[in-house]
Amino acid sequence: MKKFAVFGNPIAQSLSPTIHQMFAEQVGEKISYEKILAPVDGFVDAANAFLAQEGAVGCNVTMPFKLDAFNLAKVDDQAAKDAQAVNTLMNGDSGEVWGYNTDGVGLVNDLLNSGVEIKGKRVLLIGAGGAARGVISPLIKAGAASLTIANRTKAKAEEVVNAASNAKVQVVALEDIADVAPHIIINSTAASLSNELPCRLNDGVLQNCEVVYDMVYKNSPTRFMRDAAELGVKTQIDGLGMLVEQAAEAFYIWTQKRPDTSDIVKRVRAIVE
Ligand code: ATR
Repeated sequence: MKKFAVFGNPIAQSLSPTIHQMFAEQVGEKISYEKILAPVDGFVDAANAFLAQEGAVGCNVTMPFKLDAFNLAKVDDQAAKDAQAVNTLMNGDSGEVWGYNTDGVGLVNDLLNSGVEIKGKRVLLIGAGGAARGVISPLIKAGAASLTIANRTKAKAEEVVNAASNAKVQVVALEDIADVAPHIIINSTAASLSNELPCRLNDGVLQNCEVVYDMVYKNSPTRFMRDAAELGVKTQIDGLGMLVEQAAEAFYIWTQKRPDTSDIVKRVRAIVE
């Protein structure tokens, strides 16, 4: 049986085993997929021990180990290089471990599945942590006209923009986001977990906005999504589809089989709600 796992701290809340078992069942694979709580300073040993097991194919990596995973792996994947973060590891043929970041592809695929056109759109990305860095190159590749980053601590957004070194990737102060006139606003911060807004939402900011996307998912729409809806933004999407899509991309890397995610997003939402 092929063996998989997800590493994190905390990890109890992870839906990854459920999602990957749904994929496996759908494509006719028998897999084991466990949650592993690694000590905060013990990821590398824990991951190496898992990957050395008979039958181990690969693992997912979540908070706070994505940078450790990047340092542990051989990385060719541009999104992982840009993010300096890896969420998917795979055993190679010669004892090496490969690292990928599927978060950005997950976001882009979820947007596209939801009927959102990215090509030619001005995208405003709120936040400058690992979650933001992981989605920059996939959004640019998907054809965004511009990607402007705003963050509570502006210096961090400036660092991220400098590292991206792409003329389409810019920085803006949080108080000036209306100047961007964004078509799509993506919240990559965890503000929604504490019922806070990551940025001001008003008619000025939202005048051109067609879609707001919150990477957080809860059992009901976040305040960011609700406020945007009240102010007339047509489409609000939470991060559950991104979770499933990033998993699907990892499953494909590991098995070369691409699950049909539409039904699985519905099944996972039923569990969350
Ligand atoms: P992640 O890997 O999930 O992105 P992170 O690297 O800790 O986590 O980054 C968290 C991001 O969310 C940061 O951009 C942070 O802003 P600061 O750089 O100013 O700390 C942002 N963030 C967290 N809580 C927030 C809040 N309540 N309001 C606005 N931004 C918040």
